[in-house]
This record gives sequence, structure tokens and C-alpha cells, in this order.
Amino acid sequence: MHIRKFFLLATILCSVCSLNAQRHEQLLETGWKFHKGEANGAETISFNDSQWESVCIPHDWAIYGPFDRNNDLQNVAITQNLEKQASVKTGRTGGLPYVGVGWYRTRFDADPDKKTTLVFDGAMSEARVYVNGKEACFWPFGYNSFHCDITELLHKEGKDNVLAVRLENRPQSSRWYPGAGLYRNVHLITAEKIHVPVWGTQITTPHVANDYASVCLRTSLQNAGKEEITIETEILDPNGKRVSFKKNSGRINHRQPFTQNFIVENPQLWSPETPFLYQAVSKIYANGELTDTYTTRFGIRSIEFVADKGFFLNGQHRKFQGVCNHHDLGPLGAAINVSALRHQLTLLKDMGCDAIRTAHNMPAPELVRLCDEMGFMMMIEPFDEWDIAKCENGYHRYFNEWAEKDMVNMLRQYRNNPCVVMWSIGNEVPTQCSSEGYKVAKFLQDICHREDPTRPVTCGMDQVSCVLDNGFAAMLDIPGFNYRAHRYEEAYQRLPQNLVLGSETSSTVSSRGVYKFPAERKADAKYEDHQSSSYDLEYCSWSNIPDIDFALADDYQWTLGQFVWTGFDYLGEPSPYDTDAWPNHSSMFGIIDLASLPKDRYYLYRSVWNKQAETLHILPHWNWEGREGKEVPVFVYTNYPTAELFINGKSYGKQTKNNQSVENRYRLMWHNAIYEPGEVKVVAYDEHGTAKAEKIIRTAGKPHHIELVSSRQSLTADGKELAYVTVRVVDKDGNLCPTDMRLVKFKVKGAGSYKASANGDPTCLDLFHLPQMHAFNGMLTTIVQSGKEAGVLELQVTAKGLKSGKIQIEVK
Ligand code: GAL
Repeated sequence: MHIRKFFLLATILCSVCSLNAQRHEQLLETGWKFHKGEANGAETISFNDSQWESVCIPHDWAIYGPFDRNNDLQNVAITQNLEKQASVKTGRTGGLPYVGVGWYRTRFDADPDKKTTLVFDGAMSEARVYVNGKEACFWPFGYNSFHCDITELLHKEGKDNVLAVRLENRPQSSRWYPGAGLYRNVHLITAEKIHVPVWGTQITTPHVANDYASVCLRTSLQNAGKEEITIETEILDPNGKRVSFKKNSGRINHRQPFTQNFIVENPQLWSPETPFLYQAVSKIYANGELTDTYTTRFGIRSIEFVADKGFFLNGQHRKFQGVCNHHDLGPLGAAINVSALRHQLTLLKDMGCDAIRTAHNMPAPELVRLCDEMGFMMMIEPFDEWDIAKCENGYHRYFNEWAEKDMVNMLRQYRNNPCVVMWSIGNEVPTQCSSEGYKVAKFLQDICHREDPTRPVTCGMDQVSCVLDNGFAAMLDIPGFNYRAHRYEEAYQRLPQNLVLGSETSSTVSSRGVYKFPAERKADAKYEDHQSSSYDLEYCSWSNIPDIDFALADDYQWTLGQFVWTGFDYLGEPSPYDTDAWPNHSSMFGIIDLASLPKDRYYLYRSVWNKQAETLHILPHWNWEGREGKEVPVFVYTNYPTAELFINGKSYGKQTKNNQSVENRYRLMWHNAIYEPGEVKVVAYDEHGTAKAEKIIRTAGKPHHIELVSSRQSLTADGKELAYVTVRVVDKDGNLCPTDMRLVKFKVKGAGSYKASANGDPTCLDLFHLPQMHAFNGMLTTIVQSGKEAGVLELQVTAKGLKSGKIQIEVK
């Protein structure tokens, strides 16, 4: 190594050592043993776990299947779907074996002279944590982060401590796939006696303007007693340059946090388009001795919700272009992976999405960090039910005892993240219609205000009549409605807030690459193949097509924008095929399918939301053998106002977006297009009639070879990064064969491994982790993972009757 470089590196490393000498944080990822089922005495030190499976954390015990209708069969009336009578529900939580007990065990060393804490980012569920045979903590809610002080339970010498965790998922405890096990990270933190506890700082920016911002940092300290405390905090700008510094001394009074104030000149404001992040790096001294260093990452931005006028970020009016997502990562299950989250967010960003609602639970911390970094506003929501049940074994069993504790953890964990712009206290809780329901809502809203006075509170309400009449909606900071677009205006008139948020919208259903005729608006359309049409006109009895929500955002200043149900398909809730319709087991609501492949709808949202990019997308595909001479409507999703359609050179005329119907405002449609094999061409024009873009699709010939497109050309050699490889069955000219369903097989060699595959077919029972999967309408996704050593990862893809495909990805 070059000598100067070496010195530089040594200096950096050393300054990190001395800075962090007082605090050590470690992820407990490897060396775990897992057992599915009850295991008596598994918490004890001497228990023999050598026969258990070796696993790495994060781990989802249920994602490996097998799928089975009996795994989650339920006989219920889903009242939220307007059902009055119970019926057999299949695939409601994904048909995977998540129910039951699971045990995890590992060993760790920790300095017995320090304070030691375990932090679980989420454990599914009813976690009982044991250290060296003694119960350290219990946390029932599987989505929340929690921590326990285990200092007193450690071995005297600090070596070889046994950590055991028992988890249990009850049947009928969820409305979607919850995942199972230690599906999020486990952290081991050691610190000096006087230290900043977990989530122990609170940072606010009381004044935000272009010339300067004020920053207020409140630092809590554990065990500070009557000691003289000095805190030196430097504020680092997005380039790591010090822009403000304070050294303050004093005593911690009545366990109040230690407060410091700063001015940052010419701040770089955080927004989805400019996700600038600052850091407050604090050194804590007790009686002159350095006892802790603690870094709080934050952003500088202002949020305002103005009656009649809407939402303003940094003084600029905008509408939420948001999506709701469940926490599962499709074929990876609930096991958290940063690279998978980044992939999801990259797709959403390109669509023009700027906000995420974490439905209906606390997110993984990695997602919140990524939203800070990549620029997405967040609505974080803790609950799907309060004291009144939606699911027989749902959260209502814990609500009275645990709701406040769960809220406090969520609020303290995420109140410094600039991406979070509001809290939601719940989703379609049945409590909204009880006469005392507003009291429960107020209890939860007050907790938010107490822990975080800077952000407003909403709640996703679906029972519009109840909440308008009983005071529930009027009590919230921001009234959020789920669907019921036709009642927004009434709500706006009647409610004192004079604002309406689309906390959950659309719930259009579609299967990628499936088209049904005639192409017309339909609620609850069902077909023999158990798919829904990608003409994007089908929805549920309670929901609507996307166009209606676009219009509400465009036409009324007082609408705050929306969170579409959903960005991605998820495991479970296979509406409209949830009633005795096995093998359906995944949602069809996603704009993007379970394999992370965009459906047509993606381009509809992109054409309206992404103002920077050009969108010109044609549907359906053009392989309609047997429909020659018959109508096959052609739709075009584009940001241009006008386009002309040509089929084999014959013009079907120009269409311009217009007000004849709400669909005509956002889509260009040629309902009278006649199918003949060949070429479909679309030319798009701007408002001056100038041709701006052209797109062609062709009837594919015989399937010929496999085409592979990787989301990443290179991966970091950390054993965790993922590349999503799109597998396409194409003809000899590279046209997608849009009805091909053959089995495709995978082999990975070299510097990585095979991870999982998915095809987005909600009826397909192929197991994700096996190295083979059927194509769905000519496509699927396979995911490969980097190893820990540099080299080349090679993926080989084969299928009967096709020339195989090969792709190489650098791992470094
Ligand atoms: C909503 C609910 C979501 C999901 C959705 C499906 O009512 O909040 O969780 O069930 O319906 O349309």
C-alpha cells in the first residue's frame, strides 16, 4: 500500500477507535441454531442444540413452505370487505407455515464491566428472550423494535453467554403474511455506565429557512446521577464538514434530557428530490471523563398542513404520491435485506412515487434509513386493530396493556428521521364506529404529541358515516380516508380540519400480462384462471380505479394526495380470490408484482407522477392467436397529451386526453383496435402537435432463447447484496413471448449464491428458494446474492426448448 495512503487510513481508523472506545455495537447475525416447534428447557445454558438447524439472522422460518391451503384456512366474515356471513377463506396469509412455536439459540461474549443491551428490530412474535437461562424480556408485538438491559444476567467473566429466544405465532393472528421468527436484526450494544440509552436523543429543527435553521438536540443519559456532565456536539453537513459546534456543561435534573441548541447557516434542506442528511456527533463527559459518543442523523426540513390549502414541504405545496406496502419482500419473505428494500425503492422512485405508508405496522429500521437517504416521505403506522378484534388472535389481546409501550418505542425510534412526516395511529380499526372510539384515538394521538410535538397524526378510516357523525374524524390532526372517494367533498365540508388525505386508495387488481375482454370497468370480476385483467379497470366492491384518485388530487387544493394500495404485491389477501379459491395466495393489488416486475399500471402512475421522465407504454401484448379480426383494445399510458396508433401501418387515428370520462383524462384508449398479427406503433405528440416519441411492439414468433437483464452489474462482497435478474422468454428477434409458462432452471457458480425466484403469478405454488420456477407470461425474476469474497458470480439459466442464458456479475 502507498505509504501516505496507509498513514491516512491508520489515522482514520484510530480516530474511529478512540471515538468509539466507550460504545460497541454488533449485529448478532451468524452462529444461530433454530428449531421449529416447542423445545422444553431450550432456554437453559446446558441445553443441547447441536441437532438444530444452523441459520443466519434475519431469518423467516415459514418462507421455505410448503404452501398448503390448510396452513391458514379460516372460516370468517371479513367485515371490512362488507361481508356479513362467514365463509372459507384460503391463502389469506399466503398459505405458508408461519403458525406455531420456534426457538433460536446463540452464544456471545460481552464485557461484564459494561452496560449491555440487546435490541431486537422485530421478532415474530410474542418474543421471550432468555440470557443464560433467565428471562430477560418479553415483547408480544412482532413488528415493533424493543430492547432489554441484560447486564445483570451475563456470566461474570463475560464469555460464552447463551441467548435463547422463543417465538410463537397463533393461528388467525393476521390478515396477511406476517413472516415468522427473528426476521429482523438483533443488536448487542455495550456502553459505559453513563451512556445514551437506546433511541436516547431527540432532535428538532424549530426554525427552518433558507438563510439559517435552528437545531435543538435533547440527549437523555442513563445513570448520570448528580455527576457534572459536559456534552460536546458538532453538527456535520451532508459532506461531513463541521458547520456548528457547542460545548455545554451541567447536571441532569430530574432525569430530564440535556438540551443543546445550534444554528446552521444556509442549510441544505431535506426533500424527496434533495435528501440531504446532517449528523449531530456528541461526546459525553462525566466529571471530565469521556463516557460515550453518540451520533444522531437528521435532516432539516419544514412541514405544514394548511387548512383549505394542503401540504407544504419547505414552503412548497405538494401532494403525496405515495404507496402503501406490507413488510414482506415477496420471495424473500419477511427476512429483512437492505439490498431488496433498495431495489423496491429504486423502482418506486422511477415511477415518481415520493411517499410510503408502512401498512399496517412499524417498519424495519433499514427501510426508514433508506427513505431518509433515497428521498421518500413516510407515514408510519403501528396498528391494524386496537381493542376490538379484526382477527381472532390479533393485537386486541395486547392492546390495553401494550399500546402505549408499543407507541413509545415506535415514536422514539423514528422521531429523528426527516423522512417521517406524519404518524398514523391505525388502519380501519373497528373501534372507529364505537361510541367511545374517539377516546381511544385521542389516547393514542396524545402519546404521539407528547413524544413528538412536530408531526401531525392521522388514522386510516373506512367507515365514513360513523367517523363523521361520532366525532372520531374531527378529533384527528389529519383526517385520512381509505377509499370512498365519492365522500371526500362531504368530509371536507363537514370536518373542521378542511383537509382530506387519501390514506389508502385505489385497490385496483391486476395480474401482470393478463388481459380480459371486453376491457371495461368492473368490481369484483372473477375468471376461471383466477387472474385479474391488466387493462387496469378492475377493483373490489369498496375500491376504485387509479384515475379517480388522480382526479381528486388534480381538482381540489384541499386534498393532500394519496397512498395507493399497494406499491408491491404481497403474500396473502388474494382478493378477489380469497373465498375457497386455493391456490391463490398472494395479492393482486400491487402496481408491481411479487417478482418485482412492474405491471402495466406502473406506467399509468409514472405517466402522471414522474414529471421528469418520458413515459410511453402500450398495452396489451400483441399475441392474440384466435382473435384475428376481433377487437383487442389498445391503451397507451403516456405523459404526452396526444398519440396516434398504427397497426401494421394503418392509422387508428389520434387520441387526446379529455374530460369525457375520468379514464379519458389519464389514458389514451383505442377500444376499436382490431387484432391482426404484426406491429403496433404509437407516436406521441406534445401540446403543440409536435411528434415527440415513438414506441413499437410486435407479435412474437416461436420462443427461441432466454434473455437476462440484471438490476446490478456489480455487487459488494458482503454476503448480503442482491441482484434481481429479469428472465425473459423471447423469440429469435428478442420479442417477449407473452404467454410462455415453461419451467426455467437456475445454476449459480463462483462468487455468490442463488437466493430465490418469483414469477408474480398469484396462483403459482413453486417454492421460491428452489432453483427453478415457471415463467408467468414470458417472464420471471431470479435473485442472486454476493458471497463474501471478490470474484465473478455466474448465473446460468436453462429451459427445455430454448437456447440457455448466462450472465456474469462482478463481486468486489
Ligand atoms: C383495506 C385495508 C388493507 C387491505 C385493502 C384491500 O381496507 O386497509 O389492509 O385489506 O383494504 O383492498
